[in-house]
Amino acid sequence: MSAWSWASTGMSEVQRHAEIVGWGMYAPERVVTNDDLAQVLDTSDEWIRTRTGIERRHLAVGEATAAMAIAAAREALRVADADPYDLGLVLVATMTPDYPTPSTACLVQYALGAIHAGAIDLNAGCSGFCYALSVANAAILSGEQEMVLVIGAETMSSMVDMDDRATAVLFGDGAGALLLRASDGNAGILSTWLGADGSGGDMLMVPAGGSALPASAETVAGRQHYLTMDGNQVFRFATRIVPRAIEQVVSRAGLELDAVDWIIPHQANTRIVEAAAKRLNMEMSRFYLNLQEYGNTSAASIPIALCEAVRNGSIQPGQHIVLVGFGAGLTWASVLLRWGPSVQEARPIFYRRLWRWLLYRWAAIHRPLRRLSSGAWGRARRLLTRGAPNGQD
Ligand code: ACO
Repeated sequence: MSAWSWASTGMSEVQRHAEIVGWGMYAPERVVTNDDLAQVLDTSDEWIRTRTGIERRHLAVGEATAAMAIAAAREALRVADADPYDLGLVLVATMTPDYPTPSTACLVQYALGAIHAGAIDLNAGCSGFCYALSVANAAILSGEQEMVLVIGAETMSSMVDMDDRATAVLFGDGAGALLLRASDGNAGILSTWLGADGSGGDMLMVPAGGSALPASAETVAGRQHYLTMDGNQVFRFATRIVPRAIEQVVSRAGLELDAVDWIIPHQANTRIVEAAAKRLNMEMSRFYLNLQEYGNTSAASIPIALCEAVRNGSIQPGQHIVLVGFGAGLTWASVLLRWGPSVQEARPIFYRRLWRWLLYRWAAIHRPLRRLSSGAWGRARRLLTRGAPNGQD
């Protein structure tokens, strides 16, 4: 059986792996506590803490999704001491892109100076990061890509109705990024599992702003551009699907649950994780949680938690880690990784650090220069053609 066919069945015997060599995260500076929210909404710190586990969240001020994604991506490239020229693909999982078009991935690709990379946005709600990892893994295992940057980034505060206590207290903003490189070692992504059930699409949706209901004065007046959620239904769905997604991805890799050192779930609600732990008969201490600090950052929540766990030494070489997401769509996805013994922050080589610095500066002035030069060329053309018969030159 070829390496690809082993990989597509989720088995871990492949020689080629997508190994994580870089990681980065970004959270906006502005912190909003439960007490801050209680001053403007009919809620309390006690309600939010006991029902969700969230204590505070970071909210963006004047920053959009791409800016946060770029910060996390640059950090991941720095950790791996990698050259943006070597990137073949930039994937951004988000449900809060800067614009309907161009994609946020293109904004990131440009700001990184990743001129050899393709760029795609992927929207699978809070499962988006695991979906994007699965796509990146397939691209690397097929031999099509050598290095792929996967980012989860969200500005949930741009989509959440801050006057609606049922959703306003749950979400936060931020970004996390992983850099994946093809490797012949035995670490990296071992298996993935994706699922969807579109019949539950209306449980979590933004009714207006798409082609079904384009933006209009009426949709704005009707507050239809905000996220609506059937919290109880989503809760039930999550407690059912999270244990299943964990079991599936572990068995696809030919492992047992006991072999898993860490589970990094989508950070939506501590009670969802407790219910999953109970169903799996696992200790809560094997689940990594940081939602108390960031709230639910949708597609960014898993990479932010993973990055934090690596930075604080919770994750050690050789450990098996399950990432598991669920969310809008409805969607769910899980990824099993083996953390590589060789995975540690690379000591940056001076010229590569300088090269990245130059690339980022060049990216910052490239677009204004392009506008300037196309403006100057247009003016020159008009001058040259002035007086020519029928405007011809
Ligand atoms: N403060 C105080 N009271 C509140 C608040 C609040 N912020 N929000 C709701 N309440 C009230 C309700 O009005 C209700 O009052 P009532 O009994 O007088 O009618 C009461 O609290 C209980 O409300 P429930 O909705 O039943 O509360 P529950 O314990 O189910 O918790 C929650 C709600 C936290 C939303 C929970 O259902 C949940 O976490 N669901 C999953 C949500 C989720 O994970 N979403 C993200 C998916 S990811 C993505 O793709 C974006």
